[in-house]
This record gives sequence, structure tokens and C-alpha cells, in this order.
Amino acid sequence: MFKIKTYNAISSKGLERFNPKTYEVGGAVADADAYVLRSQKLHGEPVPPSLLAVARAGAGVNNIPVGEYGQQGIVVFNTPGANANAVKELVLAGMLLTTRGILPGIEYARSLGTMTDSAEMHQLLEKEKSRFAGTELRGKTLGIVGLGAIGSMVADTALALGMKVLGFDPALSIDAAWRLSNAVQRMENLPSLLARSDFVSIHVPALESTRHMIDAAALSGIKPGAVLLNFARETIVDPAAILQSLDAGRLGRYVSDFPEPGLSTHDKCIAMPHIGASTEESEENCAVMAADQIMEFLENGNIVNS
Ligand code: MLT
Repeated sequence: MFKIKTYNAISSKGLERFNPKTYEVGGAVADADAYVLRSQKLHGEPVPPSLLAVARAGAGVNNIPVGEYGQQGIVVFNTPGANANAVKELVLAGMLLTTRGILPGIEYARSLGTMTDSAEMHQLLEKEKSRFAGTELRGKTLGIVGLGAIGSMVADTALALGMKVLGFDPALSIDAAWRLSNAVQRMENLPSLLARSDFVSIHVPALESTRHMIDAAALSGIKPGAVLLNFARETIVDPAAILQSLDAGRLGRYVSDFPEPGLSTHDKCIAMPHIGASTEESEENCAVMAADQIMEFLENGNIVNS
């Protein structure tokens, strides 16, 4: 009998994959053969001697001490691509929130909803609605930093919307290069992408090499008024540099999936509570993939991470 320790927020569709004749699911850490988890941080946690594998139901593995586990022979899986569509859809929403008067418009419509005289309400609405006019995405340039599963899906969506797409990836894999549309113009470096993009969307993992990749120097060359979208990880940007660039009027808007003290409350910032991958479909895809990876490893010794 294999023992699987599960952590919060794993879709039951994934856990149902484990055959109860072979697996005991949801037991204690102390004698677990494998963990299946989402965002639980494992740094500093005791590692049971029985532990053979950990599967993260998600793309980023920055909540797992991968190096330390590797030295102990513990295999760490993630679920590349399983939540890419969910993130891609939220990136699109993030762009639209900056181009159209959606948020202030909703607030205004709500305030009108308290009026009882509908003729008066319509009169007011006609008078005020020009305040909420926006611009279109079609014809604008989107620069994508990181062209893996999520970045390439964002690229396809932007191309379908009539945007021009530039891409930069410091470590593009052969698989990712095959997946990428030919219509994406590959940039040799980050500064040339930043200088030419109306929107910049970040899709690189949280590594030491990507920490503060978007810092004051990078932002000093960004196209004036550009919108920066961060649905990757908070560590990739330097928040103080973002704040400074927004205040100086260089960076137009910052859209982030991570609340940041002092930044999320800024007028030019739209922050969300790390919900990029939070859809039923994505949670199910990730949990099913993670469960299958663990079973394939424990039962057959195969390491499948795609
Ligand atoms: C990811 O790394 O794929 C996401 O951050 C997943 C999540 O929100 O759990």
C-alpha cells in the first residue's frame, strides 16, 4: 500500500484517480511515500525518510526545496501546461481592464442603479459615459517574456485579436520553440522587447536568474505608457522600481496577480489575489496530471513530467 499525503486545494478529481486498493490517500506526513500539493510551502519542513516523490499541481515549484529534495533522491514533479489556459484567460482580462473603462464603469453603473427616476438616470449616463471610453487591443504590440506553455498560449490569443506579438525567452526549450507560432517575432534581448511593446506580459519561472528581472534599469527603457502584466511570480519584478516608474509616469499601468504592500493600492496598479490558475478546469487538470505522475512513478518507476 502506497501512502499519499495530500495538501489543501487539490481537486477531488485528481484524488479519485488513486485506486483505494493500492493507495491510502490523505494520511500523515511521517510515513508518506509521496505528497500531492498545490501551494503549501515545504521549505524548512521535516522530510520523512519514506518520501520518494512530490507532485505540485501547478507550474511553479518555488514552494518546494527542489535542490535539497534532489540531493535526497526525492523526485519533484510539476504539471506544465495543465493550467495554462486559465492563466492565459486572466492575462487577457488584465489587458482589457487597462484598455476599457470596465472597473470605473461598473462602479458608476452601480451608483446609477440607486436612482429611482430612470429618465434622469439615462440622462446622467449619456452625459458621463465619455469618461469611460477606452482603446482597442487590435494593432497594439504585446511583448511576451517567457515562451513556455503559458507564454505561447498568450501569444496565440493576442495574434487572434489582431495584436502584433514579440517574444523573448532566455531559455527556450526545443518543445516550446516548436509550439510557438511563426507570427511571433523573436527578440534577442529584453531591452529591445521592452522598448517596442505597448503591453509586456511575464511568463518566466521564479528562479535566482529571473529574480528582479524587471528592475529600475529594465524599466528605464520600457516604452513610455506601456502596461506591464505579471501573472508569473512576484519575485520577478522589483516592486520599488515599479512604484518609482509608475510615479514618474514612465510605466503606464501594472497588472499583477500578487498583492504587494504599497503597490496594490496605487491608482495605476490592478492587483489580483493569485487567481491566475484558479478555475475548476485548471484545478482538475493539474490534480489529475499530478496524481497520474505519482502513480506512474510509484508503480512503474517512470518519471513523466509533461
Ligand atoms: C502555478 O504555478 O502554476 C500557479 O501559481 C498555480 C497555483 O495558483 O496554484
